[in-house]
Parts: sequence; C-alpha cells; structure tokens
Amino acid sequence: SDPDLVARATAAKAALGSRVFVLGHHYQRDEVIQFADVTGDSFKLARDAAARPDAEFIVFCGVHFMAESADILTAPEQKVILPDLAAGCSMADMARLAQVEDAWAALTEAGVADQVVPVTYMNSSADIKAFCGKHDGAVCTSSNADVALEWAFAQKPDAKVLFLPDQHLGRNTAVLQMGIALDECVVWDPRQPNGGLTVEQLRDAKMILWKGHCSVHGRFSPDVIDELRAKVPDLNVLVHPECQHEVVLKADLVGSTEFIIKQIEKAPAGSSWAIGTELNLVKRLADAHPELNIMFLDRNVCYCSTMNRIDLPHLVWTLESLVNGEVPNVIEVDPDTEHWAKVALDRMLALPG
Ligand code: 13P
Ligand code: SF4
Repeated sequence: SDPDLVARATAAKAALGSRVFVLGHHYQRDEVIQFADVTGDSFKLARDAAARPDAEFIVFCGVHFMAESADILTAPEQKVILPDLAAGCSMADMARLAQVEDAWAALTEAGVADQVVPVTYMNSSADIKAFCGKHDGAVCTSSNADVALEWAFAQKPDAKVLFLPDQHLGRNTAVLQMGIALDECVVWDPRQPNGGLTVEQLRDAKMILWKGHCSVHGRFSPDVIDELRAKVPDLNVLVHPECQHEVVLKADLVGSTEFIIKQIEKAPAGSSWAIGTELNLVKRLADAHPELNIMFLDRNVCYCSTMNRIDLPHLVWTLESLVNGEVPNVIEVDPDTEHWAKVALDRMLALPG
C-alpha cells in the first residue's frame, strides 16, 4: 500500500490513542486490516465492539449492517463510524422491512404465524433485526446458526422458523445440522404473491427460507470442486455456509470465517486446501501459510465489492477527520429500532457456546 497513506494512518491513529478502536472484518483489504485493533467474523466483532466502552470512536471496517449492530451494542455516547457509507451488503438489501411485514401478514392469513419464530442472519438491516425482536425471534451469525435454530424450535410447540435473508445458510444449517428434511424447507420469494407458496406448503414447512443470497458465496459451484479434486490429490475443501447447498454437500468442512481460519491454522504442513469464501481472506491465509497448498475455489477473482469499498484512502480520511475534531459517517440507529433490534441481538448473545 502507498507508504505516504500508511504513514498518515499510523500518525492519525497514534494521535487518537485509546479514543479510537478500529474493528476489521476478515474480508477487509490487507491495507486496512493492518490498522485494525481486532479482526473477526461478524459474531466476534459484535462482541468485541461491546467490549470497549472506553473508546469514544468505533471505526468499523466492514459493511453497514455490522456498523449498525455495533451502534446497537455500544454505549449511546460512543460513535460508530463506517469509513465509506456506500459499503452496504447486497444480501442484506434483499430483505426490506415492508416485504417482511407483508410476508408476516400472509403467514397470519394462512393461520401459521402463531407457530413461526423469525430468525435473521446478522447480515440484515437493523429494522429486520427489530422485527425479529418484536416477534419473539432472534439474530444469528454463521458461527451460531445451529444453536439459534435449536433455540427457535424450542420456543413453541410445532414451531416453524422464518429464516431471513440468506436461504443458503438457513437450508444448510437446517438440513445438515438439525436433521430437517430438504422438502420441509420452502423458499419465500418476496417478488411473488404469497411468496410463491400455497397455504398447504406453508402449513407443512418447518423452515420458511427467505429468497436471499450472498453475491460472493453464491458463485461457488460444485463442478469446480469436482475439477479440483480430480487434479489435486487429498484435497480438503473448506467452505462458508453462505454457499449453495450443492457446494456445501461436496465440501469436507463448513463454517464461518473464524472457523475457516482456525482450520487453516491447525492444518498439517504440505496439505492442500480449496477455500470457498471471500478472496481477501483466502489470499491472506495463503500468504500467511506458505507451508500449505491453498487455492481459491473459483475460476474467477471474487472479492466482495462492498467490503472492498473500505480502502486505505477512506480510512486515512476518517482518522484524520477525527484528529481534526470532525466526526464523519456516523451510523446511528433510531431509538425504537435500536431497542427491538437489541432484544433480538441479546437473545443471540445469551445463547450457549
Ligand atoms: P461471517 O463473518 O459471519 O463469517 O459472515 C461472512 C460474511 O459474509 C460477512 O459479510
Ligand atoms: Fe454481504 Fe456477501 Fe459481501 Fe458478506 S460477502 S458483505 S454477505 S455480499
């Protein structure tokens, strides 16, 4: 990275001292990660944000929904800052509150809403988390989706889960970790009347999966796994649960970014790994582990374009603004949304494990 920008970021961060705390998601660029006080997956970062009540400014190097969650979990006087406000998440954008409210009205009409526990993936806007909080549901992340589903199914007799917004994480967790049959999972398409489902389908389903996906992880294909296995002996395939079910079925290991890192850290020297997650992380793991044969599970380059919006120029601008007494790009969730979203987040944080 540009040495002048590195020097400016270093100086600004030193000038701010303990007033600033920089969080970096594992999908951030190397040039940004080098300035993170902590790195993590979305679950770890949500906890880490709450663990620094003394920091005046939390600079969140990640995407918008993560900064919202940090705002909800930190003290009111702490300011959470997103270095580029255009760093959103296409998956989070696939579930809008008005669409989810329409779906709930249809579930009520079908006579099943009383059985439904809504669970939203962390990768959703604060108002969707608040919706889950209000309707006795919870948030989950890719680190704890199984425990969250277990919790949800124990909330009501004959419970069903409305899982938002990632159909793949919902399906993979339900089928592979909870023993729910594939045909007990139905997909609610918000663009179709009644989600494209009949009342009978809704009554029979255990999992109602929102039709959302990650534009990065959704690209990995089972064919590439077959091709690589044919070429590389003893290949270990390690993927994120946001990948399609067919990909996860062919993988050896599945887990959140934090899980992926742990597997690589304990891998025996000389072993081969094809990793299906965002490319910044895969490259960083390959650089840090020259003793392993690490490859990317896609023929093409595939970064998360919105994660990549946070670059060193934006970080320098943010830190220097703070040094100059300006507080840019503050993410502030309105009090009512914050209250109910916190109810759903706290339910997740109280889960065992
Ligand atoms: P985790 O951080 O929970 O592994 O999720 C990956 C992701 O896509 C974050 O946007
Ligand atoms: Fe959203 Fe996928 Fe990017 Fe994560 S990797 S921020 S889920 S688009």
